[in-house]
Amino acid sequence: MKLLTIAIDGPAASGKGTLAKKLAHHFGYAYVDTGAMYRALTLQAIRTNTDMHDEDALVALLQTMKLEPTVSGGIRINGIDVSNEIRTPEVNEYVSTLISIYPKVRESMVALQQQLGDRGGIIMDGRDIGSVVLPNADVKIFLIADVEARAKRRFKEYQQRGIDDSYESVLEVLKERDYADMNREADPLRQTADAIALDSTNLSIDEMFEAAIKIIDAKQ
Ligand code: C5P
Repeated sequence: MKLLTIAIDGPAASGKGTLAKKLAHHFGYAYVDTGAMYRALTLQAIRTNTDMHDEDALVALLQTMKLEPTVSGGIRINGIDVSNEIRTPEVNEYVSTLISIYPKVRESMVALQQQLGDRGGIIMDGRDIGSVVLPNADVKIFLIADVEARAKRRFKEYQQRGIDDSYESVLEVLKERDYADMNREADPLRQTADAIALDSTNLSIDEMFEAAIKIIDAKQ
């Protein structure tokens, strides 16, 4: 069977990572979480006190970083695993409203992602995968879910990880990030004409997975 290139785009906490990992495991494909790459740059900017309003400084910082996405959806910066550190409320606060808005940052990220995705047998998730990074992907899934459902998922995840944040604050930040991701000038989140929408609001993880398999099977 042909090795496919699968793009999954959608808003924050829509279940992209969960779905992508399950599909990668099922097909034996590689998985690249591009959000982890933007998060890693955010973390490094926080750690090095880089001005997050200075686009050129962020591009220069990115050039000092060797980014290696791991199979489990994590990421290493210069050989050091930062998979947990990139998923904090502090990183969430800056990644969508500052770091990912800059065209030059996106250009560098897209080039890296295209190198990683330049082969079949890969699942990549993000916001601009079907539209910009892999426009010729064999399958494009646009995963959506109501913002309240997404906030509940993220809040539950934080509780499980012992991160202290209120539901109201999680909901508020998700709304801010949705707005930033959909309204930025460079490569905003949007569904391309050839992407199939999948609404995960009322689906269990298994149901979401089955629905995605049907979409992929129909493309084979
Ligand atoms: O997917 P995740 O929530 O981890 O992504 C974090 C942020 O990184 C997103 O809110 C978005 O601002 C940015 N991002 C992006 N383009 C991508 C992936 C993520 O702009 N392809």
